Amino acid sequence: MTPPRVRIRDTRRRLASLAALTLVSALAVPALSAAPAAAATPLRTLAAAKGKFIGFAAATNPLANEAAYRTIAQTEFNQVTAENAMKWESTEPSDNSWTFSGADQIVDFAVANSQQVHGHTLIWHQQTPGWVQGLGATAMRTAIQDHIATLVGRYADNAALVSWDVVNEVFNEDGTFRTSFWYNTLGQSYIADAFRWARAADPNAKLCINDYNVEGVNAKSTAMYNLVQSLRAQNVPVDCVGFQSHLATQYGFPSDMRQNLERFAALGVEVRITELDIRIQTPRTSAKDATQAQYYTNAVNACLAVPACSGITIWGFTDKYSWVPDTFPSEGAALIYDENYQAKPAYTAVNTAFGGTPTTDTQAPTTPGTPVASGITSSSVNLSWTASTDNVGVTGYDILRAPGTSGGTFTQVGTSTTASFSNTGLSANTAYRYQVRARDAAGNVSAVSSAVTVTTTTGGGTGGGCGATATVQTQWQTGYVIEPVRVTNSGTSAISGWTVTFTLPAGHTVTGSWNATLTTSGQTVTARNAAYNGSLGAGASTTFGFQVSRPNGDTATASGFTCATP
Ligand code: G3I
Repeated sequence: MTPPRVRIRDTRRRLASLAALTLVSALAVPALSAAPAAAATPLRTLAAAKGKFIGFAAATNPLANEAAYRTIAQTEFNQVTAENAMKWESTEPSDNSWTFSGADQIVDFAVANSQQVHGHTLIWHQQTPGWVQGLGATAMRTAIQDHIATLVGRYADNAALVSWDVVNEVFNEDGTFRTSFWYNTLGQSYIADAFRWARAADPNAKLCINDYNVEGVNAKSTAMYNLVQSLRAQNVPVDCVGFQSHLATQYGFPSDMRQNLERFAALGVEVRITELDIRIQTPRTSAKDATQAQYYTNAVNACLAVPACSGITIWGFTDKYSWVPDTFPSEGAALIYDENYQAKPAYTAVNTAFGGTPTTDTQAPTTPGTPVASGITSSSVNLSWTASTDNVGVTGYDILRAPGTSGGTFTQVGTSTTASFSNTGLSANTAYRYQVRARDAAGNVSAVSSAVTVTTTTGGGTGGGCGATATVQTQWQTGYVIEPVRVTNSGTSAISGWTVTFTLPAGHTVTGSWNATLTTSGQTVTARNAAYNGSLGAGASTTFGFQVSRPNGDTATASGFTCATP
């Protein structure tokens, strides 16, 4: 590799102190709001009492953007693995160019919630950029060494990060080595080297080898067993073995899982269930749910029966976010919460297997008070209401909104864990009705409150004026779509045109737009109305949208939307 790699090493100490600073500042922040009272004792409490961790694979997008996701993530789990954010393509997409935003986001979340982090994954044949795959042997070894030194080194001083998957999926099903680009270029030597370099980067982290279809005793798991035995005999620092456990009800449960974990434990390694999910052939039925629940019970029981099993990571937790349907068409529903964050029988199975006694609570919370509106502007309103009570505890509220002073349909516009909510993005001089309802942890929902009617102010004084609110409709690692950008005439007279300006983060470029004409100067984008949507009566609004590409792994989006009339 070229000289910049030397600079990476030189900055390791600084990066390590940055990580330490991150830890200190995260600890200085008060703990997130207390976990809501739950009908069932949280999984993390039960697992900890058994000396195990229970974790989830975290996706950065919902972790940043969905309160319901975060609430379950922090309440139920005491361990987290980055589903994608620590992989090579996410962290070093091009040579010596690093992106730690997703990885840091997950580590910061874990620190704030007293969760341990498992780093996933250093050396894998998937999600590794092309620039690595095409290297010759000498350069590839250097790239691996530097990747491990920088990434592992970044978190080496962070007590939350306790373990790493050093190599992932090195075997074929018959137990021969997978002829990946790693193997084809370096032979099997890359495995021992990667473990030694990881140990050098963090002497305290447990270092794991991880694979799928190794849960029972078979050719692949026996190859894994032999490799681990041989590596340890050579003093290669292999501390733990990860059994991914991507299971499917139609293929049966590996009934010798416990026996298999035990034979690895006898080698002196820690064992862990690293990516547990149990898919079904969709759609769900109560019979399939029951089979799935039984498999989850079996997996927990296997780990509980083996002292060297440190815990279980579920590969996600909500069916809303799972890799399964993308990979296995017509299969899915593999996790313990449904797409609406409601616990499934699989959740109850895991809870019970860890020793919990989930309640059969069927009592709904009391009806919340009628919302009271305050702080009304041309685009927002603050709502507060008298809290509900519940025999077990209220976990949150749904906020419902209907257009106008009568008629229309109430739809949910947000959730809140407290008895208040701020609704933004409203149109000026427009009437809305709001209701709220309460939920408890067992999924019981109260009656809806009475409605309050709110009319936003006209804004913009007596002349023309406009406002713009932007919504990120979807995003992926290398781009996003902002749709709608709602342009509202917040004045009291009609306008005949509008201009919205906003700022793109460095490296972002607009790749398409609709319902407006966009011009870019530096990082500033100017969007002018199209011929057909410039005229807006007082209080009226229109929308446009656009798509942006951004550097892989960057989670920032366009910001600073302001509207002006020409
Ligand atoms: O970054 C791209 C983006 O540019 C693109 O537009 C978007 C649209 O599909 O996809 C984005 O990348 C996706 C990536 O996840 C990040 O979300 C990939 O398409 C998608 O294939 C990738 O899937 C991940 C998969 O590993 C990759 O093989 C899954 O989320 C992740 O759950 C899965 O996890 C693996 C473990 O790491 C190892 N064991 C098996 C397990 C399941 O496959």
